[in-house]
Amino acid sequence: MRQIWIPRAGAPEVLELREAPDPTPGPGQVRVRVEAAGVNFADIMGRLGVYPDLPPMPVVPGYEFGGRVDAVGEGVDAGWIGKDVLGLCRFGGYSDVVCVRENQLTERPEGMSAEEGAAIPVNYLTAYQLVVVMGGLSAGETVLVHSAGGGVGIAATQLALHRGATVIGTASRGKHDFLRGLGVSHCIDYRSEDFVERVKEITNGRGVELVLDAVGGSSFKKSYRCLAPSGRLGMFGFSAAVAGKEKSLLSYLKGAAAMPWFDFNPVALMNGNKGVFGVNLGRMWGEPERVRGWLAALVELYREGVVRPKVDSTFPFEDAAGAHHRIQDRLNVGKVLLVSRRG
Ligand SMILES: NC(=O)c1ccc[n+]([C@@H]2O[C@H](COP(=O)([O-])OP(=O)(O)OC[C@H]3O[C@@H](n4cnc5c(N)ncnc54)[C@H](OP(=O)(O)O)[C@@H]3O)[C@@H](O)[C@H]2O)c1
Repeated sequence: MRQIWIPRAGAPEVLELREAPDPTPGPGQVRVRVEAAGVNFADIMGRLGVYPDLPPMPVVPGYEFGGRVDAVGEGVDAGWIGKDVLGLCRFGGYSDVVCVRENQLTERPEGMSAEEGAAIPVNYLTAYQLVVVMGGLSAGETVLVHSAGGGVGIAATQLALHRGATVIGTASRGKHDFLRGLGVSHCIDYRSEDFVERVKEITNGRGVELVLDAVGGSSFKKSYRCLAPSGRLGMFGFSAAVAGKEKSLLSYLKGAAAMPWFDFNPVALMNGNKGVFGVNLGRMWGEPERVRGWLAALVELYREGVVRPKVDSTFPFEDAAGAHHRIQDRLNVGKVLLVSRRG
């Protein structure tokens, strides 16, 4: 098999392609020939050495894939063999062969490509947890989605629109036309406009019922100010920790210092009628049945045409660095994937 390793923290070019014998599925495991593997912002933070959940280097990053089952381990129904699947893994996803437990997989419905399948797990499960499970977004409400043109942003927008909400999105200007086409009512170029002022303007001073913010740092404070009474702020990332392509702790420390460590105190929350919550899908491994249920709901929404994964670009395993550059250059509209030679 072929895998992409992060041998040490650094620029995208540190990513290294290595070959190893194909793994044999252990008891309870299923082996998948991967056609497409998802690239996530967390992998970039991991490569830069600012993602605390990543196991020590050298490490193979990656959380998700789409492909076909070619072998099963002891105790697993051989009926899996030959099935087209999508799945989640706890690191190790930048591989063209993976072995995972049966409950980390689901069959791809008819018509869903391996690429679409690989674009679903992390982005859509995170969006589902934010919009549906914890954000409780309902019809008639307005949501502010940061990085709306990214993988999670597009997923959250599709789910929010399906629930009858209005979407305001922040994104680099080049993505605005696409976002309007997707159904985003108002686009904000956060690099040249103050998003708090724009949100107040758009909502006639009232604010929004839900904000989804993975920029982090001082953005959390500003997002909190965008909330209307009864509004909720969902915090789920820290993109602001990444300022360049080389390892640097400075932007991480600056961003961490700008976090609202003391702003969300119980009295402020009660008097403001506001709520704050956090999401980290990577720490939901203790709740496999819950997450499986969400994935089943998302596959059903795919069948209904609500979940429509947008693949921005695909890169061969040899050019994993190109995939990281694309995201760090803020050029991606939707999901960036690694594809194997078989794909
Ligand atoms: N907690 C969780 O479980 C969870 C799960 C998935 C993702 N996340 C977080 O959600 C965020 C989005 O993830 P994603 O995988 O969907 O990535 P993505 O949004 O597809 O790609 C990154 C986009 O983020 C925007 N961005 C904002 N600050 C940036 C920076 N400092 N450097 C580069 N780009 C920046 C850029 O778009 P614009 O310039 O257009 O804004 C860029 O195109 C990340 O912070 C990620 O860590 C969290």
